[in-house]
Amino acid sequence: MKFFIDTANLDQIKEAQSLGILDGVTTNPSLMAKEGITGRENILKHYVDICNIVDGDVSAEVISTDFEGMVKEGEELAELHPQIIVKVPMILEGIKAIKHFADNGIKTNCTLVFSVGQAILAAKAGATYVSPFIGRLDDISTDGLNLISEIREVYDNYNFQTEILAASVRHTMHVIECAKIGADVMTGPLSSITGLAKHPLTDIGLEKFLADYKKGN
Ligand code: E4P
Repeated sequence: MKFFIDTANLDQIKEAQSLGILDGVTTNPSLMAKEGITGRENILKHYVDICNIVDGDVSAEVISTDFEGMVKEGEELAELHPQIIVKVPMILEGIKAIKHFADNGIKTNCTLVFSVGQAILAAKAGATYVSPFIGRLDDISTDGLNLISEIREVYDNYNFQTEILAASVRHTMHVIECAKIGADVMTGPLSSITGLAKHPLTDIGLEKFLADYKKGN
C-alpha cells in the first residue's frame, strides 16, 4: 500500500519524506488555506515546492466546477511539474473533465467520493486515483471502511485500473484496516504514519536492552 501524507505543511512533508517510506502528497483547498497559502501564484508555487520535496505523486485540486474551467485549470496544474496529479471533484462536470484528461495523458484523482456508484463513474472515466473519504463517513455514523471494501470488490470484478486512495484517514487503525482490505493507497496526517511505529512493548524492550548493555560496558 502506498503512503501519501494529507497536508500542505512543508515541515511535515519533509519529516515524512525523511522516513524514506513516503509515496506522495494530497492537498486540498482547505489544507492550503490552513497553511496560509492564498492567491493563485502562491498556491501554484507551493505545489512546486511540495513536488521538490517528495519523489511521488502530488495531488493539486481544481476549484472550477464547470468542464471548461476544470480543463483549463487542470492543464495549468499538470504543466507545473511531472509529479502533479489533477484532483477533480466527483460531479458530472468532473467526470467529463477526468475523461478528457485521461484521453490526453493527464493523471487525475477523483475526490469527494462517498459511494460505490461514484467510484464506478470515476473508474469508467479513467481516473488514476479515486478518493473515498472514510473519516467523513465515520463522522456521520456510516462505516467508511466498508465503502473501501465495496469499491475493492467492484474494481476487482472488472479489473478497473483506477487505484483506490483511501482518504480522510484519521488514525492508525484506519491505515491498518485499509491495508487488510487492499486499498492501493492511503492518505492521512503525519500522526497516522508515525503512530504505526509505536508499541509500549517495543519501548519497554528497548529500555531493557540498553540498560543490560550498560551493565556489561
Ligand atoms: C483527500 O485527499 C482529502 O484531502 C482529505 O483526505 C480530507 O480529509 P479530512 O476529512 O480529514 O479533511
